[in-house]
Amino acid sequence: MKRINSGIKGMDKMMEGGFPEGTVNLLKGPAGSAKTLFGLQFIQGGIENGEKCLFLSLEESRENVRRAVESFSLDWTPYESGQAYLIDYGEIRRGDFEDSLISFTEIQTFLDNFMEGENIQRLVIDSISAVSLFYTSPEKLRRSLFEFSRFLKEKDLISLLISESENKRLNVEGFVADSFINMGYEDFEGEFRRSIKITKMRFTRHDPYKHPFLILNGGIEISVEEVLR
Ligand SMILES: Nc1ncnc2c1ncn2[C@@H]1O[C@H](COP(=O)(O)OP(=O)(O)O)[C@@H](O)[C@H]1O
Ligand SMILES: [Mg+2]
Repeated sequence: MKRINSGIKGMDKMMEGGFPEGTVNLLKGPAGSAKTLFGLQFIQGGIENGEKCLFLSLEESRENVRRAVESFSLDWTPYESGQAYLIDYGEIRRGDFEDSLISFTEIQTFLDNFMEGENIQRLVIDSISAVSLFYTSPEKLRRSLFEFSRFLKEKDLISLLISESENKRLNVEGFVADSFINMGYEDFEGEFRRSIKITKMRFTRHDPYKHPFLILNGGIEISVEEVLR
């Protein structure tokens, strides 16, 4: 099976060499746990392979994402040269009220149009928590999520959906992701540490442990040898 590199130091070792191709992956964690950074590094991993990548930013403007890219010492030039696309909320919603909520159906329509004639191989959506606010009932949200993930699976690409774990509306049970990755930022014996754990991953064996990581120059580096309990 073809493996897709994560772009994150240590991560590929946790899943037999990389993400199984064609999968829909869910990344969850609290605010400040480095989810956006993970997403940006995932895109960078694709850029390094010469893949076309799309980062959909639904919470931050393009300008703020650019600032984040630069603060993490990642490369911004692929976003300017057109190898990677960075689309923000405002661009999807062109001409519409900027503060109104966006639905999965709308994102799907946007993606369908955008990807036509464009061979996008990696997609990051940061985040789907913003979209969940559109729905007035948990049942409608669950159904839309289900349809949306099915839509993504039919596309010939790998996707990473980011979700804020404080968001109680988005319970993952109704969600048909192939993998769940949890990021944490918690107190371990008086010390705040960042962590990452793969709780589910289909089509591959994976490391079941919670590992600490640091944010260094060049981004997230996972200590695969060390386990947090
Ligand atoms: N240049 C940097 N070096 C190290 N850590 C950084 C740097 N810039 C931001 N951070 C850390 O990364 C965190 C933000 O990561 P981010 O990916 O935006 O989190 P999330 O998307 O989960 O809210 C900040 O709270 C800060 O602790
Ligand atoms: Mg973020």
